[in-house]
Amino acid sequence: MTGSELGLVKGVLDSNFLNDGDVTEKFTGKIAKLVDAKFGVGVTSGTSAIYLSLVALGIGHGDEVIVPDITFIATANAVSMTGAKPVLIDVDLSTLNLSVTSMEAAITSKTKAVVPVHVSGRAADMDNILRVCRQRNLAVVEDAAEAFCSRHNGRHLGTFGQTGCFSFSPNKVITTGQGGVIVTNDEVIFQRLRELKDQGRPVRGTGGADVHDRIGFNFKLTNLQAAVGLGQLEKLDTRLERIRQTYQIYRDELAEAKGIRVLPFKTDKGEQPQWIDALAERRDELDSFLAENGAGCRRFWFPLHTQKPYLQSDSAFPNSTRLGRQAIWLPSAFQMTDDDVRHVSRLIAKFYGT
Ligand SMILES: Cc1ncc(COP(=O)(O)O)c(C=O)c1O
Repeated sequence: MTGSELGLVKGVLDSNFLNDGDVTEKFTGKIAKLVDAKFGVGVTSGTSAIYLSLVALGIGHGDEVIVPDITFIATANAVSMTGAKPVLIDVDLSTLNLSVTSMEAAITSKTKAVVPVHVSGRAADMDNILRVCRQRNLAVVEDAAEAFCSRHNGRHLGTFGQTGCFSFSPNKVITTGQGGVIVTNDEVIFQRLRELKDQGRPVRGTGGADVHDRIGFNFKLTNLQAAVGLGQLEKLDTRLERIRQTYQIYRDELAEAKGIRVLPFKTDKGEQPQWIDALAERRDELDSFLAENGAGCRRFWFPLHTQKPYLQSDSAFPNSTRLGRQAIWLPSAFQMTDDDVRHVSRLIAKFYGT
């Protein structure tokens, strides 16, 4: 919070209108414009963005929605919240994203949608996902929570599917504390989303004698949160550049290292790393060693099929099972200097004796 967040929040407090309002519109409009989408709808989180997208597409009880096994559990929980069943599939080892072969094999007569996740900002195989989904008449809701400002072949992730869902929780490139924005190019979906996040009201009224055309909920992003978001946007370019630089230094410094592989991003095609990830032998020992030396990492999520609500055997998930044990996010904070990144790289090389 080093920009004009405080002043912008004070402006909202002074205006005495803290609810979803003109500052929210300004923020969501900027987000949509940044990713070249026609419409943006502010909501409370990335999770509610996925949930509301699925509801807007008519998905609910009795339906199946395909979700990759390697993702933050929010993706599957958002599907569960609609009453539909999340169908977990294995992922691709090179991209960490859903395997299109596994996706095709998982499609049944009940499948209504696929939620590809762009893990760490790396694009899922959108060309093939869209091809199969068009053939099979399936909706695509992109979980772009980790992919704000990342592109695939020059086009922004989040704008390939019927909707794209961004999260602005605190560990993302910009934050509103909690919050999310859904982008879409479809005006009908946009109108439905506006109603869904605001108790089914097509027109905002007094909260008294309003017309509610359909069932909706309260998932509004407030002016207060949006003010923080507008302040954060001032630092967007610097932060994106910082992460690209951090990625390049890790890649260069650890190119010859044994035991660890910093996973590549297609930066030439516009992919923007959100965090730097790697596959590491003796991952947990490395994590502990780095922590002891003051460098905090994050081990990857446990595959969803190993979590109680979605428990299944490992047999259908060889790749995600391996990634769950080996994948790690290296320190990627914006405050890091080039020297910090080189220091962490040297610690890693020391750990592996290279
Ligand atoms: C891949 C992925 N999906 C969904 C979410 C959910 O977003 P939120 O925490 O804003 O609900 C997150 C991040 O938190 C995420 O990383």
